[in-house]
Amino acid sequence: MPFLELTNLTYQVGSKKIIDNLCLSIGDSEIHALLGTNGTGKSTLAYLIVGCEGYRPATGSIVFAGQDITDRRIHERAQLGITMAWQEPVRFEGISVAQYLTLRNKELNPAHYLDMVGLQPAHYLTRMVDSSLSGGERKRIELASILALHPKIAILDEPDSGIDMLSTLDIINVINTFKKIGSSVLLITHREEIALSADRASQICNGRIACSGSPQEVVAYYKSKNCLVCGGGECVDERP
Ligand SMILES: Nc1ncnc2c1ncn2[C@@H]1O[C@H](COP(=O)(O)OP(=O)(O)OP(=O)(O)O)[C@@H](O)[C@H]1O
Ligand SMILES: [Mg+2]
Repeated sequence: MPFLELTNLTYQVGSKKIIDNLCLSIGDSEIHALLGTNGTGKSTLAYLIVGCEGYRPATGSIVFAGQDITDRRIHERAQLGITMAWQEPVRFEGISVAQYLTLRNKELNPAHYLDMVGLQPAHYLTRMVDSSLSGGERKRIELASILALHPKIAILDEPDSGIDMLSTLDIINVINTFKKIGSSVLLITHREEIALSADRASQICNGRIACSGSPQEVVAYYKSKNCLVCGGGECVDERP
């Protein structure tokens, strides 16, 4: 049984279908990469799964761990263990990194989670989570905060954006850490190496799943530029 199952999901703004009859399933402890060109609906899909205010599908259902959560509010979904790292990481004025990482659980050791994302605790614990941190540092701290929640599913919207090329392996390690602690991951990424580290992958095009399969298959399909969705054909959701 899939852990997260999206069935015939449609979301539209005015007459524009941003998510169009989309079907996708993710297994327990599966890392599922989601590829697709800019503006094709990846972040919108993430907001629909998390249940952001104003993001209610016009049609379709979202079933998580056997429960239909389509009409649940964002905080109810969070309580079920659905969490998200935003494409643009948060900034909080007046909160230190240590306070930020222990907001939900005062017992945990924030240094442990900074280590996991490749930041030296001695240099970061007392820093403020504001614009004095670099973009890549904030991104890592955001990932550490999501790890600290031990979510059932983490939706990571471009966890690699702003991360330097030499640190790609750090990000792959963080993603694998989610798997080790038993979290499933929906991994939105534009980087091939990161997509290839997933268990499965899908390509989204114009709000529809164009291809699902092994990351190797999906990357090859994506790069072939023969997408049947934008080519005007039918969605090829049932590819292996
Ligand atoms: N409220 C809105 N009103 C109008 N258009 C919107 C709205 N929200 C999203 N869109 C459009 O929907 C499309 C999908 O946006 P989305 O942010 O999901 O793309 P994305 O796949 O995450 O792209 P990127 O790779 O650039 O992050 C875009 O064309 C965007 O402009
Ligand atoms: Mg996006």
